[in-house]
Amino acid sequence: MSSPHHRPRVWVSRPLFDDILDRLREHADVDVEDDDRDWTREQMAQRLRDKAGAILGVADPVDASVLAHAPLLRAVANRGVGYNNLDLAALSAAGVVATNTPGVLDETTADFAWALMLATARRVTEAERYLRAGQWKGMSFHILLGGDVHGRTLGILGMGRIGQAIARRAVGFRMPVIYHNRSRLDDAIERDCGARYVDRDTLLREADFLVLTVPMTAQTRHIVGTAELALMKRDAFLINIARGGVVDDAALVAALAQGRIAGAGLDVFEREPAVPPEMLALDNVVLTPHIASASLATRRAMAAMAVDNLIAALGYGPNAGHPPNVLNADSSLARGG
Ligand code: DGY
Repeated sequence: MSSPHHRPRVWVSRPLFDDILDRLREHADVDVEDDDRDWTREQMAQRLRDKAGAILGVADPVDASVLAHAPLLRAVANRGVGYNNLDLAALSAAGVVATNTPGVLDETTADFAWALMLATARRVTEAERYLRAGQWKGMSFHILLGGDVHGRTLGILGMGRIGQAIARRAVGFRMPVIYHNRSRLDDAIERDCGARYVDRDTLLREADFLVLTVPMTAQTRHIVGTAELALMKRDAFLINIARGGVVDDAALVAALAQGRIAGAGLDVFEREPAVPPEMLALDNVVLTPHIASASLATRRAMAAMAVDNLIAALGYGPNAGHPPNVLNADSSLARGG
């Protein structure tokens, strides 16, 4: 553990709730960025060169090239559940502990999957654009006719905690739920979620709403592309709250433009914050800026969890030396711990 005379230096790569950061300030000297911006590896290396720890956003990259310039670094705490920004093997080799924030965002993120399903099928954002543009001239029976949500088949690709939370909400909508996952869930969990396991092609063929909740890995990159979109029903909707890159955006734009599927609700994109201009021009897609976990309470809980993880990883607080949400338990081996 560091003595109070050698307080560790910590970098917080993006603005974060200041009152929550005060807990970190009890133990460390904290540099907080006051702007949201995407960091290159070179900039990350520069910022981390004299830091013992960091709180990072899920788009801030850490790999061997960054770690080579960060000799004092002992821990990085993602303030998010996804961690495809982190090269865990490189972190372990460097003896740097990595943590994330699982669990606290599941229900909020599931709520948002439903927000996108409803908004997409019932054309909510398109309808609002129509109204705000002054196009509404009187009650018309035929405007903005959408698809129903209730009673249709909900398909979930990736049935972790968030997928399960989405499935449990389907009861009130009287929707049958099918799912595909790397491994089939226990009977008891399937019963709790009211979900039936199917192979991937069956999921693509039968889902009226296909919701993606897979993590971004080498195996899930472009897991939905031209071939998969071609299997979907013409009146189906694709919902992506996982990561840009699990969907081939160019293939999706083509499918949406050709009416190959009915629509899409997208919270994530391949080259965030850039959104393909062709997508912006389409009416049958609802677009949101990576906010599925963004309720105030949940974002505060995520920030608190990241701060607690970092405090513990740096050797302070009630869990000193044992951060609750370690992603690379083998990192301690490299440090001889
Ligand atoms: C996550 O937690 O991974 C979200 O994508 C961002 O909060």
